[in-house]
Amino acid sequence: MVRSHSAVRIAPVRSFRGRFTLPGDKSISHRLAILGAMAEGETRIFGFSSAADCAATLRCLVALGVDVRLRDGAVLIAGRGPGGFAPPRAVLDAGNSGSTLRMLAGVLAARPFRSVLDGDDSLRRRPMERVADPLRAMGAGVASTAGRPPLTIEGGPLRGIRWELPVPSAQVKTAVLLAGIQAEGETTVREPAPSRDHTERLLPAFGAALARGGGITTLPGGQRLRALSMAVPGDVSSAAFLIVAALIRPDSEVRLEGVLLNPGRTAFIDVLRAMGAAIETGIVREEPEPVGWITARSSALRGLTLPPAAVPALIDEIPILAVAGAHAEGSFTVAGAAELRTKESDRIATLCEGLARMGADVLERADGFTIDGGRRLHGSVVRSHGDHRIAMALSGAALAAQGPTEVADAECVAVSFPDFYDVLGRGADGG
Ligand code: S3P
Repeated sequence: MVRSHSAVRIAPVRSFRGRFTLPGDKSISHRLAILGAMAEGETRIFGFSSAADCAATLRCLVALGVDVRLRDGAVLIAGRGPGGFAPPRAVLDAGNSGSTLRMLAGVLAARPFRSVLDGDDSLRRRPMERVADPLRAMGAGVASTAGRPPLTIEGGPLRGIRWELPVPSAQVKTAVLLAGIQAEGETTVREPAPSRDHTERLLPAFGAALARGGGITTLPGGQRLRALSMAVPGDVSSAAFLIVAALIRPDSEVRLEGVLLNPGRTAFIDVLRAMGAAIETGIVREEPEPVGWITARSSALRGLTLPPAAVPALIDEIPILAVAGAHAEGSFTVAGAAELRTKESDRIATLCEGLARMGADVLERADGFTIDGGRRLHGSVVRSHGDHRIAMALSGAALAAQGPTEVADAECVAVSFPDFYDVLGRGADGG
């Protein structure tokens, strides 16, 4: 693997093997930092994600007057309750991170000051009315810029609401719950399909009362949170890239330890198994999040059609599942996934473009795509479009291609997995 300042050149590998630990889970790291800042006492987070996205959350908290320290590899947050947040002196920069911007919008909706949340060019293209709407209904002043960031929030006293999410989104659900816990009265959120449930699992660990079931979460307002200490499990969405690398190369095996095994995040493992993948998992610890190990070995894969109802639980892994699909016998189809067009890039377009450039037989549709698998891909020049998961998915495909591939704008992997190319280099066994 050869790196220039932003492009990475990847030679195909004979096999992909090794034992790896992953950066701390990104979704859990964001939530622990934000909940720690809202709680009372010192929250200690071990194994906090090294992702640039999570650094953006910490930077925004510091800009809001929260005392955040790093000591011996742990992130320490000196929580003083929501009243400890101070008016920011400048625009809060969420960088590339939709989670940072949307979740903090929920916190700031109840703070008695004005704040402006913004991000990079990619984040400035992403939809924000889905989070602005419920916060307005609770009594906050929220102005978006034609539905997108920057978002200006005039926070103040909120009333609890009953809110039905129009699209399944864990970020929006979290924003409403974080506003709701500071509101007067009860807040209920109903989701049309299950999205990741880390907020619902972590709030009780911080001492909050919350009831959930049947796609509905309810919590009373005016609750105080208590600080906690927690080790963040490895990011299972990052694990997905290494798992597929092992599946699509012969004589390959990866072992991943200390990985998050929350069933709301491991649906891609079920899909890969249904495609014929040899993957084993074992849970070592359950609370507040299941953690364990994953082993994956070279496998003969077959294509399948993902039902639209399965998409929300797979949303971040569809790019790498498509790479598995390109290496499967038969066709691999994704439908009902138009939401992918609103991610860090238009992931339907950027994924189809990259795989087509590598010789895959791809048909793009408005809400998904079909790949006729089984063709050997060839090396090419492909573009990440600044999207970390597209860069990593195409890099995974490059390991199994004929001839070298150049991934342009590959530095964006730092958004979720800064060591990705080092890990890939360690697993690569011969050219
Ligand atoms: C996330 C939720 C998902 C996911 C994102 C992280 C989270 O987004 O795609 O990478 O941590 O809550 P949506 O809330 O838009 O579904």
